[in-house]
Amino acid sequence: MAAPPAPGFVALGDLEEAASRVVPAEAWLYVQSGAVGEDSMRANRDAFRRRTLRPRVLADVSTIDLTTTLLDARVSAPVFVCPMARQGLFHPDGELATARAVRRAGLLGTYSTLSTRSPEEIASAAPDGLRWFQIYLQPEFSRTQELVERAEKAGYAALVLTVDAPLLGVRDRLAATPFILDPEHALGAGEGVRAPARAPAGGRGRYTLRAEAAATWTVLDDLQSITRLPVVVKGILTGEDARRAVAHGARGVCVSNHGGRQLDAAEAALDRLPEVVRAVGSDVEVYFDSGVRRASDALVALAMGARAVGLGRPVLWALAVGGEAGVDRLLSLFASELAATMALTGRRRIGEIDRTLLGEPRW
Ligand code: FNR
Ligand code: LAC
Repeated sequence: MAAPPAPGFVALGDLEEAASRVVPAEAWLYVQSGAVGEDSMRANRDAFRRRTLRPRVLADVSTIDLTTTLLDARVSAPVFVCPMARQGLFHPDGELATARAVRRAGLLGTYSTLSTRSPEEIASAAPDGLRWFQIYLQPEFSRTQELVERAEKAGYAALVLTVDAPLLGVRDRLAATPFILDPEHALGAGEGVRAPARAPAGGRGRYTLRAEAAATWTVLDDLQSITRLPVVVKGILTGEDARRAVAHGARGVCVSNHGGRQLDAAEAALDRLPEVVRAVGSDVEVYFDSGVRRASDALVALAMGARAVGLGRPVLWALAVGGEAGVDRLLSLFASELAATMALTGRRRIGEIDRTLLGEPRW
């Protein structure tokens, strides 16, 4: 097999710009867009820019150990790849390239119901890699159950139920283009698999959404009755909902505003993290995504109580720029930046990261 093309970026800060030069226009709109006026997407970055770290010095940082565990599985760093739909838009190998690079890095990969490739193909691309399967509830629970059974059989170690999308957020930037997730595009998991529906048109005071929008907390019980896999709930932004997830058996919650793609009036996901950690942080693992771009962002979220942070858009950028080799480079640059940032803050192990690492906000 020919060597993968050399990725066209050498620093994390170059990646978005490098991707903007190669991603086709329609796919670029899809990855970059947020909901409505994109305030929540911008807020995610502003929240990180506001945060500072309080470094300690002369702490013997000659060895830095990034390893940790996620639901008892060992990983090389507290970093995972977020579930993201249709990665085939960014590279012909799509999720297969992502899965191989994630496996090589020794990290956790999470894969979307809406992947270009099937859950089985993704699993066989990196059979011994750690992977979780993200569930979008289907209009009929029997279809959801089929997905769960396939994921379990294909060796996914947990299910990630995304709960912040009873329907797709309104996305102004995509209004004028044919939509990438509409049912005419076959997805890897099979023709019948549905993305969250777009906002309904033409009601007069009453709107009927698709059947999966009727889901309530008991759907967690239903899921657990059909699988032995642990369930993680993604898209939690309040202490109340985190507690309910735990009461219904969730083993983890992911604080996320979906990268600012769903509720535009949502706060920055980072600003919601402390409340969720206070509510459930000693009972379950709390993960975080939305706006993580640099290792210092990861350290801030870990210091605020996250067990691990998810990389979203940067993975699609890297995939577009260099396929598997691009994602390799992203993950290795991120991990080495994390090691450097830990050394500069006097932290040698993930277990040494706590709230005392947080400094005063910049504004
Ligand atoms: C997503 N996200 C997402 N989440 C999910 O649960 N299932 C999915 O299929 C998708 N698909 C998807 C596609 C694209 C193009 C993007 C950018 C995002 C949300 C994703 O898991 C994560 O929450 C955000 O991407 C995090 O924000 P940043 O870091 O990308 O800004
Ligand atoms: C998105 C959905 C599919 O954010 O999660 O595009």
